[in-house]
Amino acid sequence: MSRTPLIAGNWKMYKTGPEAVETAMELAKLCSDVTDVDVMIAPTYLSLPLVSTTLRDSRIKVGSQNLYFENQGAFTGEVSAEMIKAAGAEYVIIGHSERRQYFGETDLSVNKKIRAAMGSGLKPVLCIGETETDRDEEKTFSILDKQVSNGLKGLSFDELGNLVLAYEPVWAIGTGKTASVDQVDEVHQYLRSLLEKLFSNDFSDKTRILYGGSVNPDNVKELMGIKDVDGALVGGASLDADTFINIIKYRDL
Ligand code: PGA
Repeated sequence: MSRTPLIAGNWKMYKTGPEAVETAMELAKLCSDVTDVDVMIAPTYLSLPLVSTTLRDSRIKVGSQNLYFENQGAFTGEVSAEMIKAAGAEYVIIGHSERRQYFGETDLSVNKKIRAAMGSGLKPVLCIGETETDRDEEKTFSILDKQVSNGLKGLSFDELGNLVLAYEPVWAIGTGKTASVDQVDEVHQYLRSLLEKLFSNDFSDKTRILYGGSVNPDNVKELMGIKDVDGALVGGASLDADTFINIIKYRDL
């Protein structure tokens, strides 16, 4: 099955509303002739409605960087899936390693968030990845297995139809250290077969598995050339439209 690649930009806690709109406008112009790749950007909650209005007539999709799993209620400071959807988002990043590391995100909260996303029709981008210590201790595969199995526990492949998986080794995020082709290849093959084991051959076949961690215009082509890599989740290199477009147009490099 051919999977349309997804190049996603995670803007993290960067850019005010006007700055986000400016970059989104630049990117929309640069992307006008892109047809063979899906593109998504995830600005902050505050910029989400502004950016989605800016991109309404472009093919760039908008995503949120997080959500809270309850529909509504007395949860000061939180934002629900329905609110995110109403703000114009199509995707939501769930379980990013920075959220696991700094904000106490667990596989259990990830699971609840995936359910909430699915319930509102948002496409979840589930982030998983091992730390440097996990890798040194040869725990990479058991950690990934746990993050995927527990994150998706109790969900059927019908419910998970729009799932995107993002493999982001924690030691490669924002460090300039990219995983080697062999390491990415090995993990992505493992994840593909894990999805098959947990769900079905069809589901595994159609689910996009992104790589993330210091992706830039110099390494994207090689990474995208790996068989089971269906896209990239890009942090730092997505903040500047002129840089990000080179990643989106990796085929032209
Ligand atoms: P990076 O971030 O590209 O800056 O390493 C990736 C991510 O956190 O998704």
